[in-house]
Amino acid sequence: MRVFESALTLAGGLFACRTASAFVAPAASIRALRNAPAGGASTTSTYGSSRGAPATRMMAAEGVTFGELDGTDVRVGIISTRWNEEIVNRLTDGVKESLKECNVTESNIFETKVPGAFELPLAARFLSLSQTVDAVVCVGCLIKGDTMHFEYIAESTCKGLMDVSIQTSTPVVLGVLTCTEEEQAIKRSTGDNNHGVDWGKTAVEMGLLRMSATGVGKKAGGALGFGKSLDDKKDGKDGAIPGSKPKKIGF
Ligand SMILES: *[C@@H]1O[C@H](CO)[C@@H](O)[C@H](O)[C@H]1NC(C)=O
Repeated sequence: MRVFESALTLAGGLFACRTASAFVAPAASIRALRNAPAGGASTTSTYGSSRGAPATRMMAAEGVTFGELDGTDVRVGIISTRWNEEIVNRLTDGVKESLKECNVTESNIFETKVPGAFELPLAARFLSLSQTVDAVVCVGCLIKGDTMHFEYIAESTCKGLMDVSIQTSTPVVLGVLTCTEEEQAIKRSTGDNNHGVDWGKTAVEMGLLRMSATGVGKKAGGALGFGKSLDDKKDGKDGAIPGSKPKKIGF
């Protein structure tokens, strides 16, 4: 048990350290700071939490933050539904806006539509298995009605998308709004609160993580774990052992 725990701690440490070297300002470490105990968080003025407000309130109000993400070589697939088309189109526009902001090229964006949210997981699986994208964003909008339909579709869609992500090692971003009222969906798909923007950035960040971790992609690092390829460090620039062979996941 103790061995297992320390192995986990070590893995956690490695992850944090490699992630930090892979991205300019990894969201993971920012989140870690935000999740730090109140005392720690309140001294971290960089992240705007030193104004004396309770840490939990700040976190709830601000949502997720992203570092600068270079998506130049990231290929992203967007699958959206024709149900609730107006809302879904606005969300998809938000996704594309943030992809552009991350310098994802238009030729690296693949777009397709399916009828409803229930169809998203299989479509995501086909796209993931095609190995033509580094991340998939599935966009849809479910609004609760009078029956149990909403609950069943929402739960199976979310579970389905997570399964595809894990099974295919391709990040699948959950871009499905699950709202009790149409008004909530409108709020979350317009202006500064367009959730599609966060989903696009999540796709780029996770696409970069996949490329770095698996060595698969247009311009992947190919190192075991989450950093640069050891090949890049042969010159000793990064303190790696000169002449050491790059370690790759797999065989
Ligand atoms: C996107 O490209 C522009 C122009 O080459 C560059 O100035 C900018 O820093 C890039 N943004 C990111 C997030 O890499």
